[in-house]
Amino acid sequence: MNANVELRDVSKHYGRIEAVRGVSFDLPAGETIALVGHNGAGKTTLLKLMLGLIRPTAGTVQVLGEAPARGEFEARRRLGYLPENVAFNPALTGREILSFYARLKREPTAPTLRLLEKVGLEGASHRRVGTYSKGMRQRLGLAQALIGEPQLLLLDEPTTGLDPALRLGFYEIVQELRDRGATVVLSSHALTELEERADRVIIMNRGMMVADGSLDELRRLARLPSRIRLTIPAASMDAAREWMGKKEGWRDVGAGVVEFDAYHDRKLALLRRATQEGTPVQDVDVVPPTLDELYAHFLRGQEAAE
Ligand SMILES: Nc1ncnc2c1ncn2[C@@H]1O[C@H](COP(=O)(O)OP(=O)(O)OP(=O)(O)O)[C@@H](O)[C@H]1O
Ligand SMILES: [Mg+2]
Repeated sequence: MNANVELRDVSKHYGRIEAVRGVSFDLPAGETIALVGHNGAGKTTLLKLMLGLIRPTAGTVQVLGEAPARGEFEARRRLGYLPENVAFNPALTGREILSFYARLKREPTAPTLRLLEKVGLEGASHRRVGTYSKGMRQRLGLAQALIGEPQLLLLDEPTTGLDPALRLGFYEIVQELRDRGATVVLSSHALTELEERADRVIIMNRGMMVADGSLDELRRLARLPSRIRLTIPAASMDAAREWMGKKEGWRDVGAGVVEFDAYHDRKLALLRRATQEGTPVQDVDVVPPTLDELYAHFLRGQEAAE
């Protein structure tokens, strides 16, 4: 048993609402896991179960070797949590807020205050939080979650409200923690930005886990076509269509680029033809299915099964 988090057949019901239904997974150390799903899919509920804020209706949750919903949950000090709607007392300064959370976690104040630099708030640390922008509050929330070098970091939609530069900075911080062996779970709707950054993706739909794996694994499972994109000089466009022997399914995306979908078994043959000498094709790109497309695929699969 080396996983930092273990869920076994976990369900959570609120009256008749089944927020989470029969979910099982292990989250090892040194991994970034993206938790994705529509509104109401059960993402926040899963994070709260791992934190011990709520108890499962059925099944078991183990976090850092303990059951988090027990009163004397010692591992809580080694957890970091950024809630979905982070709110702080507006009358306190950034420094005061971090010091407060450091005391709660029984962590020394000095290294905690250095976290303000890490999230780029050093210049605003003496300002009242009531004067912070949304992105600044979010960064303060992240600094709060990072107190005490957590072994398990649970971040609920952490990049909402961050501009693109701050997002990059945020993912660097996450990567660093993961490289030092932490488990990082982040729930998000920002699928495109997760593609490069998550080691693993868990897709939730209506309380159920519909897929779990690395992007490559999900691609293999989904067997969706890749998109082949050809650049063709305008004068050769007709010749190219002729040559491909296929007029249907082509999409002219402009600027001399056409694309079409090719399943795995046809992909290599098509590429071979396209790159032969004498073809009208100037350039070839193969674009594998995106996380957006995989997400839609697995959701459709579950909806059809239900
Ligand atoms: N305290 C609660 N009481 C009653 N129902 C709840 C409670 N918390 C969550 N739910 C319900 O459980 C389901 C899952 O909610 P959850 O907050 O986990 O979704 P989510 O995936 O985080 O969604 P979002 O993307 O909107 O944040 C929803 O139907 C929600 O209404
Ligand atoms: Mg949520």
